[in-house]
Amino acid sequence: MAPTTKGIDTVRNPSEIFALFGNPVGHSLSPLMHNATFTEMKVDAHYVPFCVENLEDAVRGIRGFNIRGVSVTIPFKTAVMPYLDALDESSLEIGAVNTILNDSNGGLKGYNTDWLGLIRDLEESLEIRGKTFAILGAGGAARAAVFGLLREGGIPIIVNRTIEKGQEMAREFGCQFSPLSEIEKIKADCLINTTPVGMAPDREKSPLGRESLVNFRWVMDIIYNPLKTRLLRDAEEAGCSVLTGVGMFVHQGAEQIKIWTGREPPRAFMKGIVLERLKERDGD
Ligand code: ATR
Repeated sequence: MAPTTKGIDTVRNPSEIFALFGNPVGHSLSPLMHNATFTEMKVDAHYVPFCVENLEDAVRGIRGFNIRGVSVTIPFKTAVMPYLDALDESSLEIGAVNTILNDSNGGLKGYNTDWLGLIRDLEESLEIRGKTFAILGAGGAARAAVFGLLREGGIPIIVNRTIEKGQEMAREFGCQFSPLSEIEKIKADCLINTTPVGMAPDREKSPLGRESLVNFRWVMDIIYNPLKTRLLRDAEEAGCSVLTGVGMFVHQGAEQIKIWTGREPPRAFMKGIVLERLKERDGD
């Protein structure tokens, strides 16, 4: 058969390259979401996932290859900070960077869009000001949530398995703390799970017993794979309104595109793409 180039040039020669740094990155939906969005926005760019072995070298590569922007994911969100030239206020307070912008002079600035992703998504369902939020977990994702909620006038209560870690975080942000073992004593407008409990493949696990869920009007899980975690299924049965992690994921990605291009991306389109892929995966 004669050789053909048909179907091979799926990666054009774009004028801008964007990247994902993580390890592992195989299951990330960011390449799909960002590439589809660039095409939709007619931005001449391509987004490439890198499974990073050496972070310092990888950051040098941003300058070396003139990569315009990078998403940073597990386990590098905190580790990447010392290698950057500047950090925005939110990434400094949260202690994590999930977005890098390379200005045209090779200066690398770190941002955090996770908190804004969470806030944008919550705001679609409820008014944050004056409401109480039980935040399960005390890691980087919990810090992004607490930072964002405090900025918007919400009242976070940190709930964590390891008492000292939760107490220390509560002291730092000036909010309440409760041990996870005493969660049934807490009443709040909304519960937000920031722990990894319930993420695929451990789909039947939940960070909480069902009986504690009646104390919350809304329950949000920042996990988006599976779409409906065990926690959210239990919460629905308990009569709570539920929010999946897809909205936060899409909004944090949309905020990255805003930082990189200065343009507002089509958020509903992005959500549609991600939901489509997650539904295909759920069927696997
Ligand atoms: P991230 O940066 O993604 O938020 P992390 O820093 O590893 O991740 O934090 C994960 C959080 O989930 C931690 O607060 C952890 O609780 P501990 O501080 O007690 O370790 C919490 N977590 C993880 N597994 C958990 C489990 N099985 N039950 C309850 N909490 C859990």
